[in-house]
Amino acid sequence: MKQGKRVGIVGAGNVGATIAYSLAMLGSCHEIILRDNKIDVARGKALDMSQAASAVRSHTVVKVAESMEELVNCDVVVVTAGSPRLPGMSRDDLLMINANITKEVIVGIAKYSPDAIIIMVSNPLDAMTYVALKESGFDRSRVIGMAGILDSSRMAAFIQEKLGYGGGQIRASVMGGHGDDMVPLPRYSTVAGVPLTDVLSDSEIAEIVDRTRHGGAEIVGHLKTGSAYYAPAKSTAIMVEAILKDTKQIHPCAVYLEGEYGFSGVVSGVPVMLGANGAEKIIEITLNAAEQEMFKSSCASVEALIQTLNKNNFFEGK
Ligand code: LAC
Repeated sequence: MKQGKRVGIVGAGNVGATIAYSLAMLGSCHEIILRDNKIDVARGKALDMSQAASAVRSHTVVKVAESMEELVNCDVVVVTAGSPRLPGMSRDDLLMINANITKEVIVGIAKYSPDAIIIMVSNPLDAMTYVALKESGFDRSRVIGMAGILDSSRMAAFIQEKLGYGGGQIRASVMGGHGDDMVPLPRYSTVAGVPLTDVLSDSEIAEIVDRTRHGGAEIVGHLKTGSAYYAPAKSTAIMVEAILKDTKQIHPCAVYLEGEYGFSGVVSGVPVMLGANGAEKIIEITLNAAEQEMFKSSCASVEALIQTLNKNNFFEGK
């Protein structure tokens, strides 16, 4: 029997497990169900997290799905499953490998949790969100990619570091795809309501923009054997909470565009209102010519990945 809200998480690696931990500590839902091919790892982490939830008197229980069939009737399913880039592998190789993993996972979600809202986390993020949308057949409001909250948080942290003050009061804004050509927006970033452009010089802002674009790689450079997971997981948990609690908060998220910002048939990061029905509204902010140009080239990068999928007949029969 299903009680309360149920969140499925596919992929119990560092990102998936940290999302589960964050939700369990917040008591965001009644049940979290972890699904991973490494079933024993998932079992161990689920037990450990349920015990942590007991420690903080959270009602959330963390369970394991032995197969996709057990990922049933979820309100939200987060997909973190995917292969990391290995030596000698091209970007396209990674694209095809993760597209195939995503396809298999999404078909299972659509079958066993047909009313769920899907949050994609696997990379390349925007292309995987596109795959999830096509393979699920869900309305675009129910297939949302996580990246904008992460990239904006990175930008905010870099602004704090540069200023030496403002922690917790910085609103940074990043749009576009989750790639090297993402679109940080200093004009829409503030420190306690003060425009960023009033407190930092152009060259300082340029440095922050560049560091934000390569924020993921900076962490990989330190960790060496993997990529970031605390901020990616927290950013995802924020989206899950906004949906479960129907907050109507606005966050930058990756969604399929149907004419917004002048683009169609592509997934990109834009400000989105999150609520019980998923991406309930796309907010269109005014971009100046330079920002529009950057957004265009970011969309072109995602379109190139979609073209590679099409060239490989990935969506055959769809
Ligand atoms: C990052 C990778 C994981 O930005 O997308 O950290």
